[in-house]
Amino acid sequence: MSSPILVTCGLPYANGPCHLGHLRTYVPADIFVRGLKKMGKDVLFVCGSDAHGTPIVVNAEGLGMTPKALVARYHQHFDEVFKGMSVGFDFFGDTDDPACHNRTQEMVKALTDGGHVYPKEIELAYCPKCERFLPDRYVEGECPYCGKPARGDECDMGCGRHLEPGEIKNAVCKVCGGKAEYRKQIHYFFKLSEFKDFLLSYLETLGGTASARNYAKEWVRQELKDWCITRNMAWGVKFPGHDDLVVYVWVDAPIGYIAFTEEWCAKNGRDWQSYWKDGAKIIHFIGGDIVYHHCIFWPAMLKGAGYTLPSAVVASGMLKIDDKKFSKSRGNVIWVKDDYLEKGLHPDLLRYYLASYTAHNKEVNFSWKIFADKVNTELVGAFGNFLNRALTFTVKNFEGKVPQGEIDPELMARIEQTLNEVATSLEEYEFKKAADSVMTLADYGNIYFQSHEPWKLVKSDMAAAGAVLHSCLQIAKALVIFMEPFMPSKMQNAWKQLGQEGSVAEKPFLEALIPLEEGRILGTPEILFSRMEEASVKELDRIFQDRVEKAEFKGKAEEKTAEKKGEISFEEF
Ligand code: 2FM
Ligand code: ZN
Repeated sequence: MSSPILVTCGLPYANGPCHLGHLRTYVPADIFVRGLKKMGKDVLFVCGSDAHGTPIVVNAEGLGMTPKALVARYHQHFDEVFKGMSVGFDFFGDTDDPACHNRTQEMVKALTDGGHVYPKEIELAYCPKCERFLPDRYVEGECPYCGKPARGDECDMGCGRHLEPGEIKNAVCKVCGGKAEYRKQIHYFFKLSEFKDFLLSYLETLGGTASARNYAKEWVRQELKDWCITRNMAWGVKFPGHDDLVVYVWVDAPIGYIAFTEEWCAKNGRDWQSYWKDGAKIIHFIGGDIVYHHCIFWPAMLKGAGYTLPSAVVASGMLKIDDKKFSKSRGNVIWVKDDYLEKGLHPDLLRYYLASYTAHNKEVNFSWKIFADKVNTELVGAFGNFLNRALTFTVKNFEGKVPQGEIDPELMARIEQTLNEVATSLEEYEFKKAADSVMTLADYGNIYFQSHEPWKLVKSDMAAAGAVLHSCLQIAKALVIFMEPFMPSKMQNAWKQLGQEGSVAEKPFLEALIPLEEGRILGTPEILFSRMEEASVKELDRIFQDRVEKAEFKGKAEEKTAEKKGEISFEEF
């Protein structure tokens, strides 16, 4: 086997349910991993819940529960949803695991010993009424760069900059709404500015999506400020030697990638250092909004502490719903569990949609109408139709056995061409291209069946009819193997219908070139994909539109109350 590959996905905050925007990253990453396995690669796939940070503490306080209990609730939720969507992490951890605490402290010590961390007195927002410092999301105010309303740690409504503690202007406490003041305190900083030359040359070699690399290069060229890595909080990983401070959530979150690798290795007799110390290929799949952290902070930390650097950062484009920006507070959201899985919809349909709608780095638009059109035209009309025609015709005319007859060499060449296209596209993170190549082969199969008219041949030349069907079934076999990364459970069903044993997930792409054995008994043909009827599409859309309307109504009512009280209204934690 080749040298190990580690694939990770950005860690979801264990702070709310899984929505379609999450899946925009996790589904393609899972497809990528399944594809690598089919190319014979030694690949490990890890992820976990992001357990720390102020939004979790604030929400837990609001719900009258501990942050630990809130994290446990959503950790379980994400675990279930990922399983339900066939996103098959080898390990799904939690950044509050002891392994993550230990690895974070080890790395922070290594960075400190290496002279990359220093203390500095800064002025921080402090709420005199709540009698506490206001880290990150505990405070809102104005961005010091563009003047737009901003959160304590990022200018989310304006220029998008990461904000350092104390930078925000006209700070207001998010808990009591009172005006904050600024007080001096010692915090610890990571000397990010020292890594400028390293980052500029590292980013030249970084693989993944070009957009991520280019954004990061631009930021590094423009400004690179030292980074405050401590916060006044109790929930989090303790900053070594200071019981009153924890590290900033963006320090321990990516260290989770290492900790989860360690935890998986400990259980599976592997050495975690072969991933993080000896130059394995590390590939991070992330949302497009966290490029800064993965292409700048994280490689600098790894470099400073002596760990293997990521070889690729693959950033997904954003998700829109009905052509409108995704927004939980505006109700413009599709919840994966409630709105999809629990409505009895098959996970593979959504997987296919997300991967094949557009290129990975572009924006995906989701609507129930487009979803139904894609299912009905591409999956029912082209892919499923071909499989079903080839299988039912064989069952009817050849006693349900793979017929004798030479597989058309031209068709074999088409399968080989598709195999190369799929493998190359997956390696280049071009998931839509890979899915399109498979669908082109399905179209070719339909045309092949139609133009060879086996229904006429069975009356005149059984041997010729047999060769046509043997060829068609070979295309079906290839389609199922190539489509498995996209639609694993549907393809397992189809694999059985083709009379094949074992798990199609374990079959390499090359297996598509092995001729189907003549005389092999096929399984019972079943309809693989059913049409989505207009009534059910309308019902799904109605649920979504109702939510948007309710949110609009609630938003307007809240605005009015806030205006009356003269308060600032906050979007959401
Ligand atoms: O933006 C987020 O949702 C973060 N929870 C992602 C963390 S990814 C990583 F660095 F661990
Ligand atoms: Zn700004």
